[in-house]
Parts: sequence; structure tokens; C-alpha cells
Amino acid sequence: MKVLIVGSGGREHAIAWKVSQSNLVDKIYIAPGNGGTDKEEKCENVNLENNVDVLNFAKDNKIDLTIVGPETPLVDGIVDMFREHNLKIFGPSKIAAALEGSKSFSKDFMKKYGVKTAEYEVFEDVNKALEYLNECPYPTVVKADGLAAGKGVVICANKEEAEAAINDFMVKDIFAGAGLRIVIEEFLEGVEASILSITDGKTIIPFISSKDHKQIYDNDKGPNTGGMGVIAPNFYCSEEVLESFNKEILETTLKGIQTENMDYIGTIFFGIMITKKGVYLLEYNVRMGDPETQGVLSLMESDYVELILKAIDKELEGYTVKWKDAHACCVTAVSKGYPGSYEKGFEIKGIENVDCKVFVAGAKEKDGKLLTSGGRVLNIVAVGETLDKAREIAYREIEKVNFDGIYYRRDIGVKKSL
Ligand code: AMP
Ligand code: GLY
Repeated sequence: MKVLIVGSGGREHAIAWKVSQSNLVDKIYIAPGNGGTDKEEKCENVNLENNVDVLNFAKDNKIDLTIVGPETPLVDGIVDMFREHNLKIFGPSKIAAALEGSKSFSKDFMKKYGVKTAEYEVFEDVNKALEYLNECPYPTVVKADGLAAGKGVVICANKEEAEAAINDFMVKDIFAGAGLRIVIEEFLEGVEASILSITDGKTIIPFISSKDHKQIYDNDKGPNTGGMGVIAPNFYCSEEVLESFNKEILETTLKGIQTENMDYIGTIFFGIMITKKGVYLLEYNVRMGDPETQGVLSLMESDYVELILKAIDKELEGYTVKWKDAHACCVTAVSKGYPGSYEKGFEIKGIENVDCKVFVAGAKEKDGKLLTSGGRVLNIVAVGETLDKAREIAYREIEKVNFDGIYYRRDIGVKKSL
């Protein structure tokens, strides 16, 4: 098979690496990829700019399977375009992708099908939203309806902060349209887990659980980032938690997908909050997480391409995904200044000495050198028999890489008391 992977981050590098291990695959293109993706076996980067270019490339090169990494092409309807041309693609249709693309759509879906989630109200009128702030409890959570590159959620300690967020989203329109409709949501206190899964629209198979570390500094301090590191499995996901998740979130979601005839084939990433009152769904993502993928696929024993083909053929029922009996720890090295502004173009040294997997997130090759090109630069992923072992390896190995201004959290996978 010839496979095309869309995207350019550490997630796509991990997908390319996993796909390259499949005996079903001869050749992999990554559009546009990065300075790490084209170093994997069978892999080649191709510089394609938009969904139409990707479609034309797939047609011209007789691509057998396209896998979409990020949410934007999915929300823009790349899957519908491919299906119209009878090309095989893994991902949800535009309608199903709205489960991530519109928070009001996804909250209404959750409510309609009894998926356990925080209480919420939707507003399109700024005055009504401001009025609601007089009656809602604090802290409260203000969310932009549309995609906002991970910046569309503000936890507001009091009315003034909520007013400022509403003003930014609805009046100043800082997300260029994506914040004109907002969701104001009950604040939930607890610990988070990421549960990636695969669905063919009839069955959802959850993957091994994982835990992102969103804030930039140790002890979950500072602003949110795309994700500073991951462990899998997530130590907060006890059997009891997973049972509640299955019953109150996964099964109700599947019922909704079927009742709405969404014909959902692809990844569902459940972002959950484990609280004293039970397990709640914070959000759906319609793609794999970054850096969750780097940790989770490192533990997957099954052939990912075979699994994807089963989903596309709607044959997931009864399929068992095999996992290593081990733990993964992924530490993300970022540029100085991230998630704010940062400089690029620094040479990365020492990767060749690292004794575990390194996925490139934001780096490009130039004149034989690997140069930083993004906020998140590298993911160092170690697998060990225990979490402690995986942590030990990841932190030992990350010391061997360096670039100007390198920063990473030192507490990925450290369990805190609840
Ligand atoms: P979302 O994009 O909805 O996952 O929100 C991004 C992050 O904001 C989540 O990972 C949580 O850390 C936080 N968050 C979202 N909704 C809530 C909520 N209702 N209560 C507390 N924290 C939340
Ligand atoms: N790491 C969180 C996300 O991919 O949304």
C-alpha cells in the first residue's frame, strides 16, 4: 500500500513511525511532514498546502490510504472530498468533525444523548452572556465555540475575569469569528485523562489511557500549552474510572453517533475529568492527541494500519487491539518563550546519541542540520516496565540533546495527591 499522512507535528511523526512498521505498507508520504518524518523507513515528505492539493496528490499518486493528523482539515471537510472521489481516507466526515469544531454542537450532542458533562449555556448575544454572569457560580469556564488553536478556553475566577474573556471573544473577536458564539460552563475540579479511541460508527474501541501535562511549568503552573509531556497508561484511570467512562461516556456517545447517522469512521479522543462526583466528558477531539499519540502508539503492539482498515471496513466489532505490558513516558522539549513568542532556527545537537525514540515536533532540516522551527521541538519517548523506569530513561536521554534555549518540564509522570 501507499499511505499518505497529513500533518507536520510530533503526532504525525509518531503515526508515520508506527505505519512504517506495518507489513501492509510499501511507501509513506507525509504532507508536509517535518525534519524527522522523512528519516523513517519508507517515508518521504511532500509539500502540499491545502485540502485540494492533498486530494490531487492522492489521485495522481494512487494513494491507497490517507490518514489525517490535525483537526483543521477534518473540520473543513477533507474526508467528504476524498469520499466523493472514492479515495480511502481515515477520519470523520465534516458533520461528525463538528464534535470538535463546535463546542455548542458537541455540548448539545452530549446533553441529548446523556453523555455525562458539565452544565452549560450557549450565547450568541454578548449582553445576554454578560447578564448570565450575575447568576453563575465561580469559578466559571468561558469557551469559544470554534477552533482557537487550544487558546479558546478561559477558567475565570470571578465576574471581572469572565467579562474580560467574553469581551475578548465576542467584541474584540480575537479568534476571527471562532469566539462570536460562546459556551459558559460549570467548573469541574479533578484530574484529567485523555482516552483516544477508534470507531467505525458501530463500535468504539478505547486505547490505553494517557495523561497530558498542559501547563508550561512544573506542578501545573503557568499558561497552557499544546502539551508538555505524556504518560501512558494514566495512573488516575482505575478500573472503576474506566467502568464509569465506558458506561456514562463511551456507550452514550456511540448511541448518539448511531442515532444521528453520523457514519463516524476515525479517531475519537475523549478528554475527561475525574472528579469526586464522577467522571465527566470535557470535550471530544476528532483526531489523535499531541503528544498523547507519541506515548500511546509507542505501546501499541497491533498493526495500526490493519486496525484502521478494519475501521474503514466497519469490522471493528470483536477486534482486539494488543498493547505492550509496559509504560510510556514522553517529555517534550520546547523553545524558550513558548507558548508565547519564541525564536527559531537553532541547531539541534545530540539526537544521534539518544537511546530511546525521538519524535520531531517542530524542526526542519537545512544543509544537513536539524534546526528548530516551532514551539514544541522534540518528543523524547521512553518505554519501561514501570512508570518509574520509563521516566528515568526519558529524563536520562533528554539530557543528551541540546539547542539554544531548550526547556522541558521535570515532573512529567509525577503523581500528585488529589
Ligand atoms: P477543552 O478544550 O474543552 O478540553 O478545554 C481545555 C482545558 O481547559 C481542559 O483540558 C481543562 O484543563 C480545562 N477545562 C475545560 N473545561 C473545563 C471545566 N468545565 N472545568 C474545569 N476545567 C476545564
Ligand atoms: N494534547 C492535547 C491535544 O492534543 O488536544
